Amino acid sequence: MLVVRKAAQTAARKHLCRPFSASQTHLQERKGLVLGVFEKEAEEGGLHLTQAAASFDQTLSGKLSELLKIAGPGLKKGKSRIFYGIHQDFPCVAVVGLGKDSEGICGAENWDTKKENIRQAVSAGCQVLQELEVNHVEVDDCGDAKSAAEGAVLGLFSYDQLKSKKKTRVTTQLHHGSADVDDWKKGLAYAEGQNLARFLMEAPANHITPTAFANTIEERVAPHAERVTVNKRSKAWIEEQQMGAFLSVARGSEEPPVFLELHYNGAPDRKQPPLMLVGKGVTFDSGGISLKPSQSMDAMRADMGGAATVCASIVTAAALKLPVNIIGLAPLCENMPSGKATKPGDVVTAKNGKTIQVDNTDAEGRLILADALCYGSTFNPRAIVNVATLTGAMDVALGSAATGVFTNSDWLWEQLHQASVVTGDRVWRMPLFQHYTKQVTDSQLADLNNIGKYSRSGGACTAAAFLREFVTAPHWAHLDIAGVMSNKDEVPYLRKGMSGRPTRTLVEFAARLAHSG
Ligand code: BES
Ligand code: MG
Ligand code: ZN
Repeated sequence: MLVVRKAAQTAARKHLCRPFSASQTHLQERKGLVLGVFEKEAEEGGLHLTQAAASFDQTLSGKLSELLKIAGPGLKKGKSRIFYGIHQDFPCVAVVGLGKDSEGICGAENWDTKKENIRQAVSAGCQVLQELEVNHVEVDDCGDAKSAAEGAVLGLFSYDQLKSKKKTRVTTQLHHGSADVDDWKKGLAYAEGQNLARFLMEAPANHITPTAFANTIEERVAPHAERVTVNKRSKAWIEEQQMGAFLSVARGSEEPPVFLELHYNGAPDRKQPPLMLVGKGVTFDSGGISLKPSQSMDAMRADMGGAATVCASIVTAAALKLPVNIIGLAPLCENMPSGKATKPGDVVTAKNGKTIQVDNTDAEGRLILADALCYGSTFNPRAIVNVATLTGAMDVALGSAATGVFTNSDWLWEQLHQASVVTGDRVWRMPLFQHYTKQVTDSQLADLNNIGKYSRSGGACTAAAFLREFVTAPHWAHLDIAGVMSNKDEVPYLRKGMSGRPTRTLVEFAARLAHSG
């Protein structure tokens, strides 16, 4: 890829009759280096170098620390300074501020501040170097190679496939001398997983249709074919399964629905009950007959974020060879208005026989998940976790700070919560009171209504209560990711766009489950 692009650039330059030497300089590999510095604790003032930065400084006989002093008294967390020409191997060196070395897990913030600072700083350093057209960056482990790798790979991602002018492609490498190669590799895998989810979510809905989504995942698991099987179930299969709720959403669209089923067999005991992950896969949500307003409707190309994060987590689990069995389910369809579309007031029958009055066709996520959850229960999983961009109300409640978790299991909550403290992609527990159940089981025509009786109030909670009607498992969690779906600048190490959250938390959760046996 790089070679092809280089060749194309050369051809373009020759065409413009640029001097040969200029293009030659341009074609050379431009190497950069990201090094970290901590703020000294309050009373001391100044900066202190990470191990890698200190040994780099030593090879330059203290020139780096001297230049840092000249550049200014401090370097704030997440800020960077660039030094040119100080080392023959690295024309550009970015020194990044890591905050205080004494940071760690913070109870109030529910994350590890030190890890977050490393992600932010490394991401910022890599981005500055990318702007300078550096195409290979060595990265200081900053004392936590996994977080450093995540910062680098997440920070450099941008979706520019469809633009003629692309950002410089940057490869990254752990700065030599670091012993934490395994952690670095893990961090790369976690971040690449999240980037896969970002790619699927950001891509336009005319590119990522249900069929294209399923094909992309099939391609991405192909390298792990000995442990992963993929089933792309057709509309005929969905009909056989009597998934009437799912079909009622898909029927308005010309695009055929797909029910994607992934089996990852990583546990030494192939018969070990699986972890079941279920993701909402609405590749475009127009609202259907209950049409959404056109402003920001384009964001609904990411309404398959649940399916994207779930499938990306399974691809990542396979890449990491996690010793656990996982089944992934993704009901994939479009929600569109048409002469065939479901109408408000229509009644449909879910796989478990429950009837649902569809009073709002825009509350479609819970319909497709209802059938997927019934199907998922047939595998007797050790836990079921479903992930969905389910309600605007979730965004109103927590914004992008954390994914809302509704669960019937304290154990499952603990697992998810602990995983999220490590990844920094947080979760927050939400209620599953009968109070909400009453609001969805009061329907004029059917067993359930797909919107709560008091429509707007507690919208995220009534949606969760609705899903619960299709679950029999003792350990089930519903993750509403509508609030964390996209990023403006809230998460400093993710550029603006669809976030791929909480893929890393799902992977970490699966890894913990794997290693707890
Ligand atoms: N996909 C949307 C929820 C959503 C909104 C996700 C904004 C991300 C950002 C979902 O299908 C939906 O439309 N929900 C309705 C439910 C309502 C009709 C009860 C909503 O939240 O307005
Ligand atoms: Mg909707
Ligand atoms: Zn939706």
